[in-house]
Amino acid sequence: MTKEALAREFQTRYQQEPEYFFFCPGRVNLIGEHIDYNGGKVMPCAISLGTYLLVSKNTDKKIRLQCINFPETAALQLQSSYSKTGSEWFNYPLGVINEILQLGHELSGMNMLFYGNLPIGAGLSSSASIEVCTGTALSQIFGLSISGTDMAVLSKKVENEFIGMNCGIMDQFAVAMGKKDKAILLDCDTLDYEYLSFNIGDHVLAIINSNKERKLTDSKYNERFAECGRALKKLKQVLPAENLCDISVAEFEKAKSIINDPVLEKRALHVITENERVSQSKEALINGELSRFGELMYASHQSLKELYEVSGAELDTIVEFSKTYKDCIGARMTGAGFGGCAIALVKKDSFDDFAARLIPYYKGRVGYEPEVFASEIGDGARKI
Ligand code: GLA
Repeated sequence: MTKEALAREFQTRYQQEPEYFFFCPGRVNLIGEHIDYNGGKVMPCAISLGTYLLVSKNTDKKIRLQCINFPETAALQLQSSYSKTGSEWFNYPLGVINEILQLGHELSGMNMLFYGNLPIGAGLSSSASIEVCTGTALSQIFGLSISGTDMAVLSKKVENEFIGMNCGIMDQFAVAMGKKDKAILLDCDTLDYEYLSFNIGDHVLAIINSNKERKLTDSKYNERFAECGRALKKLKQVLPAENLCDISVAEFEKAKSIINDPVLEKRALHVITENERVSQSKEALINGELSRFGELMYASHQSLKELYEVSGAELDTIVEFSKTYKDCIGARMTGAGFGGCAIALVKKDSFDDFAARLIPYYKGRVGYEPEVFASEIGDGARKI
């Protein structure tokens, strides 16, 4: 939808012109999966699809939340706090509004209209996108000067405490702080970060949506989170570690017998090796060794499949196909897994052919088609 079409929709719904427009992207994670909540380093980037938000203040002290993508709406009296009701989409912006009120900021009544062009629940962080979009809008409209990093921290808190999902900081940080054509190397323990040029030369970053439905909160995400906590607790008996990612592969090999549980051992091994792969991927990018970067993507997928067990037949089918395609140099699932999306680095000139062959290959094995598109790396949340 164009900005003009969105403005018309706002006018129709609220009989008022929108005063402000904001956009916040979704993200893909290039490498470093399931390690943000283990104090590791991750390498996400913002994409060009995301959430649009149109806002006008109102004088009747009501917060009105509507979304073009969903029929449910909310109209709530302005009050000093809110709590989650049901599982509707508007709990995400409501959680952010609540958090900003808890910080002591004053808001006025507002009419808000959201529109997203990210596939919902496909693992491209539609929820982080709507949270950070809301927070960015409130910060700018009410002059709150909340920094990008603080916005990410605030939105993560909403996800953890208001929504009830134990996610790490990666998604909220990526969509708040993304930069065009850059990968973000984020230390999830210290929140130190740097931008790395994502020079992929004559390749494109392909996103493949498996179209397998999944719901993060229903998934095994919180179970993995808890398993990592249990593995760390055991390892702490013999190692001075705050997080699993403080432990090197060599240290782990020496200490792992203390875990005494094969499943927990596999989970920890994934986390610790994945963290090392992120450092190796940084070197590969800096040295222009794109095929090395691609190999690390394949290795990451393998580990997520075998050790962390968060992939699935659909994502594995995409990666299997990618391995056999000569102009694809790397592929892996991205995000939480259990369905959702995979990413692949494919030669530009072969991208159409890659998609044309992958679609029937996948359909033949899975029973329905995936969606394949080439993605741009874009900027983070902003006023438009
Ligand atoms: C989801 C979470 C993130 C991160 C990834 C897995 O996207 O929201 O915090 O844990 O899964 O890397």
